[in-house]
Amino acid sequence: MTFKAALEAASGRVQDCLAAELAGYGDDAVIAAMRYAVAGGKGLRGFLVMESARLHDVPAAQSVWAAAAVEAVHAYSLVHDDLPAMDDDDLRRGQPTVHVKWDEATAILAADALQALAFALLARPECAADAGRRIALVASLAEAAGARGMVLGQAQDIAAETAKVPLTLHQITGLQANKTGALIRWSAEAGARLAGADPAPLSAYATSLGLAFQIADDILDVEGDAGTAGKRLRKDAEAGKATFVSLLGLDGAKARAEALVEEAEAALAPYGATAETLRAAARFVIAREK
Ligand code: IPE
Ligand code: IPE
Ligand code: MG
Ligand code: MG
Ligand code: MG
Repeated sequence: MTFKAALEAASGRVQDCLAAELAGYGDDAVIAAMRYAVAGGKGLRGFLVMESARLHDVPAAQSVWAAAAVEAVHAYSLVHDDLPAMDDDDLRRGQPTVHVKWDEATAILAADALQALAFALLARPECAADAGRRIALVASLAEAAGARGMVLGQAQDIAAETAKVPLTLHQITGLQANKTGALIRWSAEAGARLAGADPAPLSAYATSLGLAFQIADDILDVEGDAGTAGKRLRKDAEAGKATFVSLLGLDGAKARAEALVEEAEAALAPYGATAETLRAAARFVIAREK
């Protein structure tokens, strides 16, 4: 299967899983906002879960639960990221952001509920028959999403806006490894965790991939087209965001992203030809226009 077909297939399954889950929840505003927030993304994190699972012969009907879980956490993180107290954005995935379409309280609560939903999905027996593996997934996602992972990175990102001294390359790398890298790493490792296998080669792949992904996001902010990207661009410099572009310039950031993609591809050597779709995913993250 080509990368594009695999991404679409994974994203379709994840969307169906989340829609089926939320179908039973009723029609309160918070639940409508949850449905809205999980729709319309690229689904890259869910794809990484399902593709790493496929490498370990874990069936899609099983890996879709962990894939849906990480997409729920990711959707929550975007709803909060767009709030006035954070990046103050009015457009996401080509649509009004949740706090614009509803209000801030609904956005905060819908995102909170999406985070809780993620852990409920991982706790389902369908996610992994072995309870020990389910607990490993729950614990590792809590670590990746929490105060030593994505939340820390978001806090570092906001703090950098008002830092008196610009961040060093080392500090920006650390910030981005937390902010964006932690969930991407968890996603790529999930297939190994589902199979009870060693996640180390996937972890090396995902560390490079996650960083390349955020560098591409920062380059898109400068060079991208808002209509295509589905979100407001040209905001990072004005907000004082610490990015690879702010430190290395566009050409330097592009060169770094290229080098990281090569590192990501090289890390997949132990998997041979079966990892070709993941190699294509690495090339996609820096070529993407949204
Ligand atoms: C956007 O993530 C936020 C970042 C971590 C840069 P994506 O570019 O994966 O967003 P969607 O899910 O496709 O909308
Ligand atoms: C968001 O990063 C990262 C998380 C939500 C964890 P950005 O603030 O750069 O993402 P965009 O540009 O708004 O999509
Ligand atoms: Mg942000
Ligand atoms: Mg943002
Ligand atoms: Mg951005």
